[in-house]
Amino acid sequence: MSHDRLPILVFGATGRQGGSVARALLKAGWPVRALVPDPSKPASLALQQAGAELVRGSFEETATIEDAMKGMFGVFSVLPGNLSAEDEVRYGKTIADLAARSRIDHFIYSSGASAGDKLTGVPRFDAKPRIEEHIRKLPLAATIVRPMIFMEMLVRPGFGLEDRRLLSLVRPDHAIQLIAVEDIGKIVAATFADTARFGGVTMKIAGDRLTGHDLAAAFTEVAGEPIVYARFADDVLAANADLAQMASSLEDGPLAERVDLNLMRALNPELLSFRSWLAGSGRAALRAVLRKPGAAV
Ligand SMILES: NC(=O)c1ccc[n+]([C@@H]2O[C@H](COP(=O)([O-])OP(=O)(O)OC[C@H]3O[C@@H](n4cnc5c(N)ncnc54)[C@H](OP(=O)(O)O)[C@@H]3O)[C@@H](O)[C@H]2O)c1
Repeated sequence: MSHDRLPILVFGATGRQGGSVARALLKAGWPVRALVPDPSKPASLALQQAGAELVRGSFEETATIEDAMKGMFGVFSVLPGNLSAEDEVRYGKTIADLAARSRIDHFIYSSGASAGDKLTGVPRFDAKPRIEEHIRKLPLAATIVRPMIFMEMLVRPGFGLEDRRLLSLVRPDHAIQLIAVEDIGKIVAATFADTARFGGVTMKIAGDRLTGHDLAAAFTEVAGEPIVYARFADDVLAANADLAQMASSLEDGPLAERVDLNLMRALNPELLSFRSWLAGSGRAALRAVLRKPGAAV
């Protein structure tokens, strides 16, 4: 553990990705400054308790962000999924511009694995590629990470597990790539530790690659009862542009491109397979969605 590292400014540190990054950086010995909209929220206080310095601010407050970047070694930028495409692009570009102006040593932007390199013409699908394109033009040692589907997304209520089905977008023999949110932080922390290697790199990140059959078998084993894999019906996909876009990306688009899992394990020796995630932190979420509070799941 190094004690002379300069701090890293983390956006979204009370959320999934930023929270994972802040925890992993603190554990690796980096001082962390977190820009949070509300420092009195329990998640902000927990972050402070864990050792992060809190700065109150939001994406709209350019002067606050620029001030918060003073003296930082790195910046981790992630934007919430509920922004309009216009705001997402504006905030994403502004944060990167401020990092370049502040001469940040290493900037990491978390994009999306379905981003791909070609624009689709649909603003909400193109927000992340447009931010990426902007970052690549800046005089900044920047790494763009594109996390694959979060393992946590599979156990969200409303995706079929309540009815013992795993509703998915692809055929059961088709492999998909997943990542546990806690591994995003560990991979990002390892990336900050090697600017010479990762400055200028764009990489998809994942923890496992497995078919629908494998997923159903893993769920069945941990749930102790059959969970079947079911693909969304064609008419449901046809009626929902977001689902349809994701399905085609998973089948033969950017989400189907293989992640180098050996590199992931080299960056994060604790990388979780889907089964190990499900046996650990995924277990409680599975139990909740199966509505088996007292069960051994
Ligand atoms: N690959 C996948 O499966 C997957 C799944 C979900 C999302 N995503 C992507 O992940 C990204 C979102 O990351 P996440 O899931 O980590 O987000 P998240 O858990 O929703 O957290 C959002 C964070 O942004 C902060 N925030 C919200 N509004 C803010 C503002 N105006 N100014 C400053 N901070 C603000 C929130 O603070 P408060 O807590 O104070 O509100 C929170 O810390 C999106 O790009 C989304 O597309 C990918």
